[in-house]
Amino acid sequence: MTVIPTVNALRFVGAATFEALSGEPVTSSVWDGVDSVRHIHIGAKADIVVIAPATADFIARASHGIASDLLTNTLLSTSATVVLAPAMHSQMWEHPATQHNVALLRDRGHLVLNPDEGRLTGEDSGIGRLPSPQSILDFVENALVGTTHSLAGRHIVITAGGTRENWDPVRFLGNRSSGKQGVALARAALAQGAAVTLIAGSVDIELPSGVTLVRVESAENMLQAVRLAMKEEPDALIMAAAVADFRPIAPLEEKIKKGAGVPAIELTLNEDILASVARENPETVILGFAAETVDSQEQLIAAGREKLATKGCTALVLNNVHGGGIFGSENTEITIIDRRGGQASFTGSKNFAAHAVLAHLSYLLSPLH
Ligand code: CTP
Repeated sequence: MTVIPTVNALRFVGAATFEALSGEPVTSSVWDGVDSVRHIHIGAKADIVVIAPATADFIARASHGIASDLLTNTLLSTSATVVLAPAMHSQMWEHPATQHNVALLRDRGHLVLNPDEGRLTGEDSGIGRLPSPQSILDFVENALVGTTHSLAGRHIVITAGGTRENWDPVRFLGNRSSGKQGVALARAALAQGAAVTLIAGSVDIELPSGVTLVRVESAENMLQAVRLAMKEEPDALIMAAAVADFRPIAPLEEKIKKGAGVPAIELTLNEDILASVARENPETVILGFAAETVDSQEQLIAAGREKLATKGCTALVLNNVHGGGIFGSENTEITIIDRRGGQASFTGSKNFAAHAVLAHLSYLLSPLH
């Protein structure tokens, strides 16, 4: 990683911080280290150039091809993907000059994110906030991987989030699934060119645009939605949802009053969507997820192999949830096992894990498999 601060960036963060974090000297000028021709070589060697934050001034300079410092020189000398994450006051973002400059950059193929809405400098709030570091990172990972692996022409159905099983008109049984892994998979599949049907239960994050979205509540709703989606003969189904195993036997019509004593809930088993749909669609590549509480990687694989056989799907993505921590967290550790004996492990962000799962899916979809 090479950090190229602008002169203005160094007013906010000192060079020492950038140097300590990147392990390399930093400069804004084309006149330092001239012998190594940095103004050309940095851009020529880059896999991706990310400008965050991109100010109104930087966007104006970049859109007009002005090469007044090391960063703008780098932009002109790179053929890599360029991502800009703008940050400025709402009025500056909405100004026709900035909007025109953003359109110029986008026409040129640069990936300009939309700024977030929220608190700005001082008391003001509105559009213009720098997108969160995590969302910039996710976008960059998608941009990097999206150019190398392709799911173009594929249709992938993905389930995400938890299910809610009605108990009475105001209460339900739910679970802690955030939907992050399923949504990361949907975004990554989109980035790799797939058409995505996202069947989402309860999630606590923003859903991606560009998918065919089906919202569901209960496990029964999800089963119906998955069966309907399978009629379109997708290339693959990924069951990333945390489907409730049990539901109250008969949801009550009336709200339970607390004066009536502590009620007992009688539960019944929900149908296993993954197992049923795998049985009904033996030719389709179907991936399931399994969260196990085990002490070692060997135990995880052994439990996974047993579950793969009972579920009857093509592959399982295994998480060891011993000690909690996966639900809602950004990072995850996964092991993928498939019916042919294939196995692969990854640690990283849920977004990175999503790409790892899709890379394995591409392999399972390939004619050689
Ligand atoms: N799943 C499903 N339908 C259910 C329960 C789970 O389709 N009613 C799917 C999930 O989407 C996930 C996988 O099965 O892909 C998760 O399996 P897991 O919960 O680990 O296994 P269970 O069958 O619930 O077994 P157990 O909890 O006893 O390990």
